[in-house]
Amino acid sequence: MAEPRELKTFSGEALNNFQTTSAVVPSSRYLTRAMLAPLPLRRARVVVEFGPGTGAITRALLEGLPAQATLLSFEINPRFRAYLEANLPDPRLVVVAAGAEHAAEELARRGIRQVDAAVSSLGLTLMPDRQRQAAVRSLVSLLSPDGVFTQYQYLHGLLAYLQKTDGHFVRFTVNRFLKSYFSQVSREVVWRNLPPAFVFICQP
Ligand SMILES: C[S@@+](CC[C@H](N)C(=O)[O-])C[C@H]1O[C@@H](n2cnc3c(N)ncnc32)[C@H](O)[C@@H]1O
Repeated sequence: MAEPRELKTFSGEALNNFQTTSAVVPSSRYLTRAMLAPLPLRRARVVVEFGPGTGAITRALLEGLPAQATLLSFEINPRFRAYLEANLPDPRLVVVAAGAEHAAEELARRGIRQVDAAVSSLGLTLMPDRQRQAAVRSLVSLLSPDGVFTQYQYLHGLLAYLQKTDGHFVRFTVNRFLKSYFSQVSREVVWRNLPPAFVFICQP
């Protein structure tokens, strides 16, 4: 369970902006563990995180990464960025004030051409289609051939009907969306999280 100050920050932002926060409490340690277990962290040099929030997964990533690694965590919410900078002082962590959809440009600006692992907590179902496509596409272009990407999705959001600008509804499933970018996608359920979630494990 997150400590009271972290919970207050997270839940406060969920109330202010549920569309982007897309959860009411930070991920449990069980979900965090399931997100990180498939990643090749011990040999990783560069890891990317989309949507660190108050750092539930970021903290565990830093525990598993080698001393020389770099973790670039893309976060659009300034309150979460301030929280991370104050509470996770670590020279390996770079909190990037940009949306995940700009990852390719942001990494190119830093001279980074390849990423060994990536983890995303983005609420894909709630994101505009172009934005979620841009986020995952930019990652696919950077992930090393033996790299791994994990994404979680709450059980209730696995399938959604999204209204297009012409008023029609389209069916969106996270599984099908990820399979359009990765050659291998497997998934496992984590019941011990609020709410329960699926972890998608994706390989190029
Ligand atoms: C469900 S929360 C996850 C927080 C944390 N990783 C956890 O698991 O507890 C989603 C996070 O994604 C961030 N976010 C939403 N849209 C984003 C975007 N386009 N780029 C980067 N971060 C984004 C939100 O501000 C929020 O911190």
